[in-house]
Amino acid sequence: MGGFTEKQEALVNSSYEAFKANIPKHSVVFYTSILEKAPVAKTLFSFLANGVDPNNPNLTGHAEKLFALTRDSAVQLRAKGAVVADAALGSIHAQKGVTDPQFAVVKEAVLKTIKEAVGDKWSDELSNAWEVAYDELAAAIKKAYA
Ligand code: HEM
Repeated sequence: MGGFTEKQEALVNSSYEAFKANIPKHSVVFYTSILEKAPVAKTLFSFLANGVDPNNPNLTGHAEKLFALTRDSAVQLRAKGAVVADAALGSIHAQKGVTDPQFAVVKEAVLKTIKEAVGDKWSDELSNAWEVAYDELAAAIKKAYA
């Protein structure tokens, strides 16, 4: 992989702030997109048992963590050229038996959510920066339970 650039890091950082500006709203976009493509998520995520409720702090908390970790992944890529995931993060996903196609569904949902959050600032370059940060983080999580 070519190095993750300062510009890519800045794109991820600024769009993460757009996500953070309204976490309940963006969480609805995120989980609705996941459920459309993978209805099994309703039973996988404990906080989706009663549907996509933006007032459920477990639901918004999980979305915030996932987006924040992806942002941190961009920061790590820029600073060190590699991403390390916490072993605990590996074991949660190993226990839940999360598969590669499920990682792809969540990736599409992340991109869709960021696209809505940034509006006309969306670009291929911005999309690509999130994709690289997400893919490297997903690989690090999977490595932690391989
Ligand atoms: C880079 C991608 C991902 C990141 C950064 C991530 C992050 C996390 C974090 C931080 C937790 C702990 C939740 C908490 O403490 O509230 C968690 C739990 C969980 N993750 Fe992920 N995750 C990712 C991908 C996925 C995927 C693809 C799936 C499967 C669809 C998945 C399914 C789960 C489930 C089922 C839990 C337990 C949630 C619960 O019911 O409490 N994750 N994830």
